[in-house]
Amino acid sequence: MNKRKILVTSALPYANGSIHLGHLVEYIQTDIWVRFQKMRGHEIYYVCADDTHGTPIMLRAEKEGITPEALIARVHDEHYDDFTGFNIHFDNYYSTHSDETRHYSEDIYGKLKTAGLIKARGIEQLYDPQKNMFLPDRYVKGECPKCSAKDQYGDSCEVCGAAYAPTELKNPYSAVSGAKPIKKSSEHYFFSLSDERCVDFLRRWTRAGHLQTEAANKMHEWLGDAGENKLSDWDISRDAPYFGFEIPDAPGKYFYVWLDAPIGYMGSFKHLCTRENIDFDAYWHKETETELYHFIGKDILYFHALFWPAMLEHSGYRTPTQIFAHGFLTVNGEKMSKSRGTFITAHSYLKQGLNPEWLRYYYAAKLNGSMEDIDLNLEDFVARVNSDLVGKFINIASRCAGFITKRFDGKLVEGEGYQAMQQLVDERFASWRPDAIEKAFEERDFSLAVRQIMKFADEANEIIHEMAPWEIAKNTDKNADLQLACSLGIQLFYLLARYLKPILPETIRQVEGFLNCGRLTWPIFQADEPVSQLLLPEGHAINAYQHLLTRIDSKQIDALVEANKQTLKAEQAGSAKSIATDQSAAIAPIAETISIDDFGKIDLRVAKIINAEHVEGADKLLKLTLDIGSEQRTVFAGIKSAYEPEQLKGRMTVMVANLAPRKMKFGLSEGMVLAAGNGGKELYILNPDDGAQPGMKVK
Ligand code: MSP
Ligand code: ZN
Repeated sequence: MNKRKILVTSALPYANGSIHLGHLVEYIQTDIWVRFQKMRGHEIYYVCADDTHGTPIMLRAEKEGITPEALIARVHDEHYDDFTGFNIHFDNYYSTHSDETRHYSEDIYGKLKTAGLIKARGIEQLYDPQKNMFLPDRYVKGECPKCSAKDQYGDSCEVCGAAYAPTELKNPYSAVSGAKPIKKSSEHYFFSLSDERCVDFLRRWTRAGHLQTEAANKMHEWLGDAGENKLSDWDISRDAPYFGFEIPDAPGKYFYVWLDAPIGYMGSFKHLCTRENIDFDAYWHKETETELYHFIGKDILYFHALFWPAMLEHSGYRTPTQIFAHGFLTVNGEKMSKSRGTFITAHSYLKQGLNPEWLRYYYAAKLNGSMEDIDLNLEDFVARVNSDLVGKFINIASRCAGFITKRFDGKLVEGEGYQAMQQLVDERFASWRPDAIEKAFEERDFSLAVRQIMKFADEANEIIHEMAPWEIAKNTDKNADLQLACSLGIQLFYLLARYLKPILPETIRQVEGFLNCGRLTWPIFQADEPVSQLLLPEGHAINAYQHLLTRIDSKQIDALVEANKQTLKAEQAGSAKSIATDQSAAIAPIAETISIDDFGKIDLRVAKIINAEHVEGADKLLKLTLDIGSEQRTVFAGIKSAYEPEQLKGRMTVMVANLAPRKMKFGLSEGMVLAAGNGGKELYILNPDDGAQPGMKVK
């Protein structure tokens, strides 16, 4: 056999969130493919890592009151446990916040710079004057410049779909502090993707069989026709404060997370190479014959099919052999949803005691190597796993093994009986094409592979049904027939197990114990040889059958969905924005009628909370400094039980501006802010809609 040398990666999950069933589409898919290649005897390494850099991780650590390093260390362990729980085996699971990744980032950047492909230029961006940081697009919100929808992100509108620059938003505000961002310029570094060298290279590369057809077409749209140049240079630097790698010779400038993220593939592999003495360069030098595959979701195609190959090509490294993009997971036909309980975390699935092999099987049955989305229909999940895995596969062993153990001391048929069995197998499976299963696995069309495997299982069950060992067993003269029938069942089960092993590694590990057959390898099938050549040798002895796989009870799925709804509730209760609706609190009766003139006496103004602080000795009050346009006011507000000062800074609210000042123990209170609720934790200060400015009259 021609032994291939293969390096495989899955996208590096962000270190600021939990692994969920959507992610698992990718990691399970990759793991199945890698296990398949390993079983065939190829030299293959599967590496991954946490993607640890960037603003969200920096801000989350800050919110939790820990360092980013502590945060990423904790999440790394959580991710690793989740993957291990789903029997996803990496040869190395590392972190982009590593010496290796830093080394290759600096190296690649340096080489691109030498090649004249890095340019510096000043750009103007939105800056949060309160947090003293530039705001990534996602951290600026405001009104859509096209349709005026409120609360849209700085890059695109979820209402009308328009894409724009954050500086185009109307009435922008910082999602970090609520402050109104200012425009500020700073110098950024760009990778010159629009340089002819890059464009020419990408035009060729994206057409040279490295991408699925749909992906190649997408890239073509992005690249435009020859002569056209639609690519813009890529901004690869960010200003401090930023959690990432500082750019050599550019103090205060950091590599943008997406620059070092794919380099994290190299970093993780390098770490493995050092540990296991593998030749890193053999896999990464320009003329290598080793294969490199990246499994990714379709959302990150742009980075993997344009930026990444262009970076590698122009820094003297090899480029990927192929990019395998997949679609997105929907649950019950819809986007995963926290409120419906279908945003299911890997952790909750395992914690509820559900078998990871069920999900692996279901995903395999759905994945076809294309970029189509795949749906996890929870009812279908239960039905399919129970009918295929338990009803068709496991059932074969559970029906035949007992007789072999009890009546034949665990021994499968030998001699003439074995030959008769071989003949039967070859007749019944004459038209069967195991090489087609292999091809389907190779092409990541696992759904085709599963269909063929299950067709084989159907046929196996039919033969067993016809032979009916449970009937033969009633008649002790027919021992030879019984042994033959049951041996046939076990042999077919053995063959099925070999094909299912990449999908069900843990179940098949137990099957290996039961069949007493060592580690199952991939059946190498020669088209002109009979199927029976793939069976266990005659007279092989098996161990007693032990329970291998249970059925799913749909109640378990209900409990899983419920648990994920609970998680949402817990998150909301812990978040300052939560609105606890206490139905038991009585609604106060409406007060006596007043005239419009009475109302007009109250001067209500939009106020911006520019400072909020605790008051020494006061257990109910917070001291607020309010900006009402023309002036600043100090107000002591009895909202300490419901708010932390930090939550209030930068927010807009409404105040009574003409209330007579009141001398309090702690100082003069010059007005009153409006809040609803019964007191205690249940207090909600009012918020004007976005766009309202300090000092505006409320009428
Ligand atoms: N950190 C980047 C990848 C950097 S690779 C150098 C990232 N991380 S992610 O955590 O958001 O996603 C990791 C992978 O999971 C991506 O390939 C993404 O497409 C995939 N998926 C995330 N949610 C998914 C679904 N709902 N369905 C299918 N795949 C999904 O992107
Ligand atoms: Zn819009």
